[in-house]
Amino acid sequence: MPLAQPPPMGAQLLSEDTFADQRVYVTGGGTGLGKAIACEFARCGADIVVASRDAEHRQDGVNAIEAIGRRAVGVEVDIRDAGAVAESFDIVEAELGPVDVLINNAAGNFEVPAERMSANAFRTVVDIVLNGTFNCSREFASRRLQAGRGGAILNIGAPYAATGGPSTAHSAAAKAGVNNLTWSLAVEWAPDDIRINTLAPGYFPEPDRSGWVSPGAALDNRNAQIAERLTTLPGGRVGEARELGWLATFLCSPFASYITGHVVVLDGANWLRRGPIGDPFEPIRESFDRRREGGP
Ligand code: HXC
Ligand code: NAP
Repeated sequence: MPLAQPPPMGAQLLSEDTFADQRVYVTGGGTGLGKAIACEFARCGADIVVASRDAEHRQDGVNAIEAIGRRAVGVEVDIRDAGAVAESFDIVEAELGPVDVLINNAAGNFEVPAERMSANAFRTVVDIVLNGTFNCSREFASRRLQAGRGGAILNIGAPYAATGGPSTAHSAAAKAGVNNLTWSLAVEWAPDDIRINTLAPGYFPEPDRSGWVSPGAALDNRNAQIAERLTTLPGGRVGEARELGWLATFLCSPFASYITGHVVVLDGANWLRRGPIGDPFEPIRESFDRRREGGP
């Protein structure tokens, strides 16, 4: 019997006024998991900032929040650029008011065996994931410190930060850096009531995009890929975006006011499944090529 399905879409963990009169800044809040998390904050009363590079992505996020009945502002930013991050906070403050919660969700990632990964490919992913997370966290916290107000930061990580990620060496190393930042910054900012945690999702394929599936996967074979993945997951099912939303809002809510410096993995125990004898091993470049050519 697989792990139980969660309560249905729309079920509410926290009350509708938990984040009333608060602004939540979500990097990459216009697509995938960031959009799902942003929507749950909106259902709990928050106004939302959708911060990312692509105008169409931002508009999707803003539309989703407005459909819930909350205010949303899209702001253009490349989180690799600390100056642009500061400017985006200025724009948002002028339009909505100060940001109370920061969700560092934006990321870049692609599968490629390490010996074929260019130096620029490695640098690009680390720059988005690790430097981007630092840039946004620093900007947010310095404004909260200046105002004498607490706040909450949630990073969206990945379980392979703890284990390594063959075929995604850049992302795994950067996400490991994000875990480490979580621990450092939690201690630095706890005296000022600024909390920081990391939520590391497992496999959460999103309905509106190709998601984290095989290299080059088209949307139409996405379902087949998910079905195949089910056989590899101890819990017998993939994650549902609303489960992330509930955990993200809880971690940033007053009910979690003593929780800081934690990395919470939400993956049905998939990352812990290795026993002393593993499955038959196939070298990474061979499995990458096989899947790129459309194999299982
Ligand atoms: C090999 C690649 C590549 C690929 C890009 N590069 N894609 N190398 N395979 N598929 C190389 C380029 O050739 C270039 O190196 C360098 O990376 C930078 O590429 P640019 O296209 O110039 O970068 P940029 O325009 O800044 O775009 C960043 C990006 C892009 C990361 C490459 O894919 C992006 O914007 N992604 C955002 C969305 C995303 O990735 N989401 C996934 C999150 S899912 P050279 O040497 O040629 O100059 C996730 C799941 C975790 O994180 C799962 C955990 C279980
Ligand atoms: P996604 O839809 O591709 O989201 C990535 C988002 O990041 C996009 O909205 C993108 O927006 C934004 N972004 C990328 N680079 C940026 C930059 N330089 N500046 C500003 N915004 C940038 O992927 P996702 O699957 O939802 O992933 C969301 C988070 O969950 C990531 O941190 C990812 O590592 C993590 N995660 C996902 C899974 C999964 O199963 N999906 C599993 C584990 C972890 P623009 O293109 O508009 O800039």
